[in-house]
Amino acid sequence: MTMERDSAAGTAPATDVHEFVVVSNEPVADGVWRMRCHTSVAPLLAPGQFVNVAVPGDAAHILRIPLSFSAAHASSETLELVYAVVGEGTRRLSGMHVGDVSTMVGPCGNGWALPTRGGRALLVAGGVGLPPIVACARMLAEAFVGFDVIVGAQTSAKHVEYLLDELRRMPPGEGCDCARKVLVCTDDGSLGTRGFTTDVMADLIADRPYSQAYTCGPTPMMAGVARLCEKRSIACQASLERMMGCGFGACSCCNVALTVGGYALCCKDGPVFDAREVVW
Ligand SMILES: Cc1cc2nc3c(=O)[nH]c(=O)nc-3n(C[C@H](O)[C@H](O)[C@H](O)COP(=O)(O)OP(=O)(O)OC[C@H]3O[C@@H](n4cnc5c(N)ncnc54)[C@H](O)[C@@H]3O)c2cc1C
Ligand code: FES
Repeated sequence: MTMERDSAAGTAPATDVHEFVVVSNEPVADGVWRMRCHTSVAPLLAPGQFVNVAVPGDAAHILRIPLSFSAAHASSETLELVYAVVGEGTRRLSGMHVGDVSTMVGPCGNGWALPTRGGRALLVAGGVGLPPIVACARMLAEAFVGFDVIVGAQTSAKHVEYLLDELRRMPPGEGCDCARKVLVCTDDGSLGTRGFTTDVMADLIADRPYSQAYTCGPTPMMAGVARLCEKRSIACQASLERMMGCGFGACSCCNVALTVGGYALCCKDGPVFDAREVVW
């Protein structure tokens, strides 16, 4: 199966089925797992794209699981997925062992774009919206774009500490003569600020200038981030989640309502959208 996609930058790698071999699979926070796997799709992925993973086992469960990635290492062909166990598919994914083999479809969708204006970027992640935000941070760091990050979770135990450390360690970049902030919050106040990412963001954007925001997490959170950006004329890219069937534009089950009217497909036109294009 090969599905061609167009790309503004030229011909994008074709979406195809790739085998993967599990290298490690372990819990990294409460209900959150990290799988590292060896797969030929890793060098083809751009930050913010996703893969559609087949979990072997129950024939009654035929749908693949769409997952973003936190890291894709081209030279070692290694991919890192960080996923919450929320239902049958992700529960069975967490049961895969080192050496187990399956397939994933990818690269899927369109990823993050670098800022078109100079200045500093702000990244806002909620829950398991964090993996694609970490991939975005790496993209910005490699382009010397300075950024700060806000990461929210329900409670301390659900924060993926090693990813927070990776964000803190990334090179500073440009856009503001100030140190990187990685601000953490929780709904219950058990780690960092008590409250939502949008509360933390409202304070931060009053203090520091940003030209671009990137966000991924629960839809109400991203809607709030988009509103704050609109008020301050900050460009905003949001990575949306929809229930998905095929993952490559064939089944029309992942509609995103657009402000100009009509619908886009989250899997093919997204998952990253300009926040102003989306009806929140
Ligand atoms: C582009 C994309 C990237 C994603 N990246 C990640 C990621 O990096 N890490 C991660 O933990 N999760 C990610 N998800 C969500 C993940 O795909 C779902 O949690 C997973 O498919 C649930 O499968 P399941 O069989 O375990 O649960 P199910 O039994 O199918 O569902 C359990 C619960 O999760 C909800 N759910 C199922 N699928 C989705 C979905 N696609 N979007 C939102 N809610 C869903 C259901 O409504 C239900 O409440 C992503 C989703 C998309 C569309
Ligand atoms: S999941 Fe089939 S069109 Fe998007």
